[in-house]
Amino acid sequence: MTGGAGFIGSNFVRLANKQNPDWQIEILDKLTYAGNPQNLDGLDPTKVHLTKGDICDNELVDTLVKDCDAVIHFAAESHNDNSLTSPWPFVETNIVGTYTLLEAVRKYEKRYHHISTDEVYGDLELDDPHKFTEDTPYMPSSPYSSTKAGSDHLVRAWIRSFGIQATISNCSNNYGPYQHVEKFIPRQITNILLGDRPKLYGSGENVRDWIHVDDHNSAVLAILDKGKLSETYMIGANGEKNNKEVLEQILEIMGQPKDAYDHVSDRPGHDLRYAIDASKLKNELGWQPKYTDFASGITATIEWYKNNRSWWEPLKAQTEKKYQELGR
Ligand code: NAD
Ligand code: DAU
Repeated sequence: MTGGAGFIGSNFVRLANKQNPDWQIEILDKLTYAGNPQNLDGLDPTKVHLTKGDICDNELVDTLVKDCDAVIHFAAESHNDNSLTSPWPFVETNIVGTYTLLEAVRKYEKRYHHISTDEVYGDLELDDPHKFTEDTPYMPSSPYSSTKAGSDHLVRAWIRSFGIQATISNCSNNYGPYQHVEKFIPRQITNILLGDRPKLYGSGENVRDWIHVDDHNSAVLAILDKGKLSETYMIGANGEKNNKEVLEQILEIMGQPKDAYDHVSDRPGHDLRYAIDASKLKNELGWQPKYTDFASGITATIEWYKNNRSWWEPLKAQTEKKYQELGR
């Protein structure tokens, strides 16, 4: 798998190792600012191995893909705000990196699963009765989402033109342990823990469809196990909430007044709403989310950040410096 030292990837390794203790998991990760080998601490080294390297390095990718049974591709440049200040790493990793993996799985005829995002579909109006489905047309807004869309198109083309054995999943916003402090929920929790005020972009009306990272990953395991080749599956857990509601809930759980935050300038091109219809995944593969109570999921996540200061404190100053420069 790629990107196993990042947020979702490292949680995937833990879950996959628990559910399939016989699996040998080989991780390829560049260890960018978002990757941390400590995320894999405590895992059995005879079952989980990390190779530091770039998914754009075709010789390395070739060597690793040759010896595996399946490739699960999590690695990406993943943060929208970064893509607005510096798009090139997104084009390189998300598009050229995916191309490099696809060529290797084509050559060695390996099973491939592609991790993607709901952002490839653009955004919805607040009152739109429709949600994103596998048939929603692509309409990405940001450099991040457009490069993820580009990578999905490559996978679809490699399936149709070369017959590779692949599946794709498009998931909504994840939360849980090991998420980088640049992202919305960890940024607000860690600001409060440091005595700083949380920051809400624009009006805070933007809606995200929150899912616990373990639910995302259990869905990926279900697709690997039972998914139909060439198919796309939407992953979501009916977790729509606007940013203001989420922030107020975090403040309340952490014993702060509900209005103890700053409004800051909005993200350029900010998508208004994402919402997932995961019926296909539920009906065809029998998948169900476990973390259906957002309040308890977010309380456990807050506890994790309280108990793991040494994990996030070294990341905080540099991250907030970047936000300060952007006025956000
Ligand atoms: P992350 O930024 O936390 O982790 C990305 C990982 O990829 C890091 O370990 C990083 O070192 C590695 N990486 C980056 N460039 C690389 C390269 N060129 N070669 C090898 N490794 C490289 O990201 P995340 O939030 O865990 O997201 C993982 C995947 O899930 C991404 O594909 C993302 O698009 C997708 N996704 C994320 C969310 C979300 O809410 N975070 C939702 C849906 C889909
Ligand atoms: O929808 C899936 C996507 O979710 C993934 O593909 C991306 O990799 C992941 O980063 C996430 O994208 P978002 O842009 O939605 O996530 P982010 O955590 O950056 O922001 C969530 C919302 O919160 C968004 O509307 C912007 C807002 N926000 C964000 C930050 C960092 C704030 O209001 N304040 C903040 O400080």
